[in-house]
Amino acid sequence: MKAINAIRMGGVDVLPLIEGGKGVSVSTGISSGHWAAAGGAGTVSIVNADSYDAEGRTVPQIYRGRTRRERQQELIAYAVAGGIAQVRIAHDLAGGRGRVHANILWEMGGAEEVILGVLEGAPGLIHGLTCGAGMPYRLSEIAARFGIHYYPIVSSARAFSALWKRSFHKNPCGLGGVVYEDPWRAGGHNGLSNTENPLAPEDPFPRVLALRQAMRGFGLHETPIIMAGGVWCLEEWEDWIDNPELGPVAFQFGTRPLLTRESPIPEAWKRRLLTLKKGDVFLNRFSPTGFYSSAVNNPFLRELQARSERQVAYSTEPVGEHVAAYGVGARARQVFMTEADREHVRLWEREGYTEAMRTPDSTLIFVTPDRAREILADQVACMGCLSECRFSNWSQRGPDYSNGHRADPRSFCIQKTLQAIAHAGTEGADEVMDNNLMFGGTNAWRFATDPFYANGFVPTVGQLVERILTGR
Ligand SMILES: Cc1cc2nc3c(=O)[nH]c(=O)nc-3n(C[C@H](O)[C@H](O)[C@H](O)COP(=O)(O)O)c2cc1C
Ligand code: SF4
Repeated sequence: MKAINAIRMGGVDVLPLIEGGKGVSVSTGISSGHWAAAGGAGTVSIVNADSYDAEGRTVPQIYRGRTRRERQQELIAYAVAGGIAQVRIAHDLAGGRGRVHANILWEMGGAEEVILGVLEGAPGLIHGLTCGAGMPYRLSEIAARFGIHYYPIVSSARAFSALWKRSFHKNPCGLGGVVYEDPWRAGGHNGLSNTENPLAPEDPFPRVLALRQAMRGFGLHETPIIMAGGVWCLEEWEDWIDNPELGPVAFQFGTRPLLTRESPIPEAWKRRLLTLKKGDVFLNRFSPTGFYSSAVNNPFLRELQARSERQVAYSTEPVGEHVAAYGVGARARQVFMTEADREHVRLWEREGYTEAMRTPDSTLIFVTPDRAREILADQVACMGCLSECRFSNWSQRGPDYSNGHRADPRSFCIQKTLQAIAHAGTEGADEVMDNNLMFGGTNAWRFATDPFYANGFVPTVGQLVERILTGR
């Protein structure tokens, strides 16, 4: 195994190992501070992070506003306080070693207000900003204003070129690195484009080489590329290290750091990681952001899948084969579907899926009365955690603060579920793991087969970084 040497990133020499940002409350001040202390770059997620009261208790995020806009203001205030709290912890734990980065999603609600609030409230504590999901054109400007580095997350050379030409070229020195996030393999939301097949993962090497070639065209020969997604042991990436074709490369880990002693996720989540098999993590498209995301195939995802399968197209007038009448809702408003679909609906009704819910695509899905109540309650409780949400039809853009479509009951409230899974206590935790979204990279099955984790061994962050440095 080649020696893994320090790399020049963000103006200093650090280990080319990064803990990727993970929201909500998965990469925290504690996990990222320890990662930085081990000599790499730790990334604090400042997406609706936890803050603490004077006694050190987690401040519950309770929403009192009457409208979605009012609640979004509360959410932004919680996020700023949480971001500052987590960044302070990371900075203290790092003790001047490594780098502390902060991560947000450009498409999260009030993204810019949150970043600015945290940077102003925690001056000098953040070395770099990493940001993906959407096209974060303004990232370079914000980084320049605070004299820090920025790290866009992209999944193709094309996306980076667009960002560079639009705005990043104005702050070339601030560009600390470019994160290439493999859209087939990385945990969390993924940047798969409409032309890419979710079932046909592509080799990352030619894609990263194309990114480097584009970067060279902009004079970015020495700016590190950070490979994220599917990286487990570096001996499998030897031909990437010190490869003059690729130039400087660092590696970002998201899934492996989930299983460390300092990782704040519930013990039940950690136990689940050790039992996963190949194929248990897969790409799905239920997220209210509209992006693909990579998560564990648990009862939560299976329920969403089943919801979408109990779906029929309808028209408001009888046309073509859509002649079988059906009454929707309490007022039994008539719509028309095919005879075959009408028969499906009868079957679902006999199974208890008696409630029809309209989707934005002129279809109906069928759910139980309890599920219908839960979906409606979640949509009503929306606190605008995204800039746009297909589940509740919220948009943070006025004048009507709607995305212009019907709310989509085939999706879910990502804020509710990510908060729930990150904060599950010990009692009933397995049920919480089953019934919420559990992000993970497609490599997560390797916990069960990697001898490092034999007999349920859970390393400290320091031990994990040491292990990675051996190439394993
Ligand atoms: C639980 C989890 C949550 C994540 N959340 C985010 C996030 O909020 N923002 C982000 O940019 N990336 C997020 N990611 C992606 C990681 O930062 C990282 O790039 C990715 O996991 C690397 O691939 P790997 O999963 O194969 O290690 C998340 C990943 C996981 C596993
Ligand atoms: S409904 Fe959508 S925008 Fe509203 S809080 Fe939930 S996920 Fe966020």
